[in-house]
Amino acid sequence: MGCALSKPGLMHHSPPRLGRFSPRGALRGTAEVPGDKSISHRALILSALARGPSEIRGLSRGGDVMSTMAAMRAFGARIEAEGEGWAVDGVGVGALLQPAEALDMGNSGTSARLLMGLAATHPVTATFVGDASLSRRPMNRVIGPLSRLGAEFSASPSGRLPLTLRGISPAAPLLHRMEVASAQVKSALLLAALNTPGVTRVVERVPTRDHSEQMLAGAGAELWSEETQEGRLISLRGEAELKPQRITVPRDPSQAAFLLVAALVVPGSEVRVNGVGINPTRAGLFEVLRAMGADLRFEDRRQEGGEPVADIISRHSALTAVDVPPELAPAMIDEFPIFFIAAAFAQGTSRTAGLEELRVKESDRLATMAAGLAAIGVQAQETPDGLHVTGSGGDPLPGGGRVDPRLDHRVAMSFAVAGLHARAAIEVADMAPVDTSFPGFADTLEGLSA
Ligand code: S3P
Repeated sequence: MGCALSKPGLMHHSPPRLGRFSPRGALRGTAEVPGDKSISHRALILSALARGPSEIRGLSRGGDVMSTMAAMRAFGARIEAEGEGWAVDGVGVGALLQPAEALDMGNSGTSARLLMGLAATHPVTATFVGDASLSRRPMNRVIGPLSRLGAEFSASPSGRLPLTLRGISPAAPLLHRMEVASAQVKSALLLAALNTPGVTRVVERVPTRDHSEQMLAGAGAELWSEETQEGRLISLRGEAELKPQRITVPRDPSQAAFLLVAALVVPGSEVRVNGVGINPTRAGLFEVLRAMGADLRFEDRRQEGGEPVADIISRHSALTAVDVPPELAPAMIDEFPIFFIAAAFAQGTSRTAGLEELRVKESDRLATMAAGLAAIGVQAQETPDGLHVTGSGGDPLPGGGRVDPRLDHRVAMSFAVAGLHARAAIEVADMAPVDTSFPGFADTLEGLSA
């Protein structure tokens, strides 16, 4: 990912990789998707903080998770590929080493925000750098509360990468009421709490993904949640000792979503993805698709690595438009790009609202998707907090345009799916960002049309 110190904030990207997507007939068969990206980050971080050997299976090999892995190595953990999985020798909470160089977060907001939380309460100084997309994303949402814990930041007032953090130990515990619904902010604080004496508390008004809470509890941290009038209050007692674990990472529902929607919109398709995480804090898209009339079946529901999983089968379906309730947004926050593509094939106009957070993802996803949909001949109207998309009623999309995904992996994959049922090929100007979360995506798609 380039030299970390030469040009902070302007990390190199892989050269652009043009993608061209056109109909290849029905999609059929069983597809494999990577391990859950969110859970993979947490598995690496908590294993690296346990004292002793952990084992992780099913870890994502995407670039984002590799950024977290490199950082945890720089903090002193030993992490090695072993057989099908990874062996991690953790350093123990409180014992992070001073990283020798700037930490390159690449395209990964989760790495940046979670690791700032972790470093904030350790006696280390760490510089965080990222690519052009990440360097535009807001960090004040973590800088604010972590500064109140006692950490010091040198960052521009707008709070973007690159920045340098000087951690404090011992830190002072705090009560933080989250302003934005963000699992990354919540997780940053819980990780900061691990090495903070006393009890750190976080209140979230709207529930967000709870993988950090689940995995911390699994590692033996003293963590408890209660419902209050203000929302869910999560408390963690610091100076925690984490147990090494054997973690099996479920398959990523956010990656499965691209293939499952592809099957819904391409006539004659039937696709199965096994072992997909269906944690309710992540499964909002499946609920919405069902409300649109999608034939989505969950088989063999079970628990894996402390998370609910199922095998999911998706069949081509006639979709009708929906209005997505804003309160569902956190449970499908990463799935709006592919949802907008599903909406582009539905009968009628689908409406979304309350999606301001999409403007600060890997790209401004409302603007990037609106521009992309316009480029391929789909009627889409951008509002300050949402997008209204008028669908084709199942007919092929006009296509024929070139979409700029603006360094956003999920936008790139969404338009690849759109191209599978379009009158003229859809070009995606750069598929390289897809490697951050789903290396091999294009081959997987191809495998289903073989
Ligand atoms: C993530 C939380 C979400 C999500 C991101 C991964 C996580 O971000 O969009 O892809 O792993 O905690 P926010 O917490 O900023 O909403």
